[in-house]
Amino acid sequence: MIDIQKNILFVIIKNIFILSSFVALLGAGENLEITPATKQCMDETLASQVVVNPLKESMGGEAYNDAIGSGKYRYVGNSKCRLCHRKFFIGRKKDPHDHAMKNLIAIGHEKTPQCLACHSTGYGVPTGFVSIETTPRLSNVQCEGCHGPGNVHIKLTKKRLKGGFLAGQDSPKILKNMCVECHTDRWNKSYHDLDTAYNKYKKADPRSYSKGKHNNAKEKL
Ligand code: HEC
Ligand code: HEC
Ligand code: HEC
Ligand code: HEC
Repeated sequence: MIDIQKNILFVIIKNIFILSSFVALLGAGENLEITPATKQCMDETLASQVVVNPLKESMGGEAYNDAIGSGKYRYVGNSKCRLCHRKFFIGRKKDPHDHAMKNLIAIGHEKTPQCLACHSTGYGVPTGFVSIETTPRLSNVQCEGCHGPGNVHIKLTKKRLKGGFLAGQDSPKILKNMCVECHTDRWNKSYHDLDTAYNKYKKADPRSYSKGKHNNAKEKL
């Protein structure tokens, strides 16, 4: 009897969780204005049919295949990161990366593979984002969208060890490549200078680097 009650409670909680993920995603993109320049980026991206894999490109194919092929690395979703990095997590809620899926939904491209590659977490990587229905917890460019799968890091820190990321502090070159693989020559409005933009993510409370309406050229980093 207790088991049945537990199960029912679990199903209710799970549904509330799924529902709230959808609501969070739907209430979005309302201020989105598609400029002719963005329209052109979108058209070119669609025409090229290339689906990028930022993690693979950043690490290089061989290192990527070794690491991901080993099956050791898994995406866990940013609610897990929240447990220990509350300040980062809350600060990031204002960062456009954390809303990248909303813009796709607003223009009906939330199922287009070329777009998901840069607007979700780990698309095309085993255990990464697949679809809003099956992996809602990996929507948007989350922590692991830049740092790579987080399960090993969590395991290590629980044993009071460090690191564990494919794109963490001890591999800044790969992490910087991650920026460049998404912020390409085509999608290049977000910042003028990579080093300045990158350094904003160091240390500080992330609340200090989100500047609100990001389409305004004056507010570029
Ligand atoms: C069990 C607690 C815990 C959880 C859960 C956790 N972290 Fe950490 N994290 C730490 C601690 C402690 C450090 C400092 C030690 C270190 O530098 O690895 C750290 C450091 C980091 C660093 C800087 C060091 C590096 O290797 O780049 C990053 C980035 C990071 N965490 C990201 C994440 C992300 C992303 C998640 C979710 C996938 C996460 N953490 C989940 C405890 C945790
Ligand atoms: C290679 C990575 C990449 C791909 C692929 C990509 N985007 Fe983006 N997208 C970005 C970046 C980066 C930004 C932030 C603006 C910038 O820097 O140009 C962005 C911003 C946007 C915006 C916000 C409007 C704006 O100009 O800021 C929309 C809408 C958008 N993308 C739609 C799409 C659609 C639709 C597709 C697929 C046809 C797509 N994106 C594919 C990286 C990408
Ligand atoms: C997986 C793809 C991806 C990666 C990796 C990535 N970005 Fe972005 N970034 C985006 C997208 C998409 C947007 C725009 C989100 C939107 O408005 O829809 C964005 C937006 C931004 C913005 C605009 C923020 C604002 O407040 O206006 C900055 C700055 C930025 N990225 C810097 C970086 C830096 C620096 C790195 C590397 C440390 C990085 N990004 C890594 C996809 C990515
Ligand atoms: C847009 C890419 C991007 C995203 C998304 C991102 N980070 Fe980072 N993070 C960075 C960069 C770049 C650094 C600086 C690494 C270095 O020191 O070279 C960094 C550093 C860190 C550090 C180390 C800070 C310090 O000064 O010791 C922690 C902890 C961290 N990130 C956690 C997170 C967590 C948790 C999330 C999600 C809530 C997250 N990051 C999302 C790019 C990102």
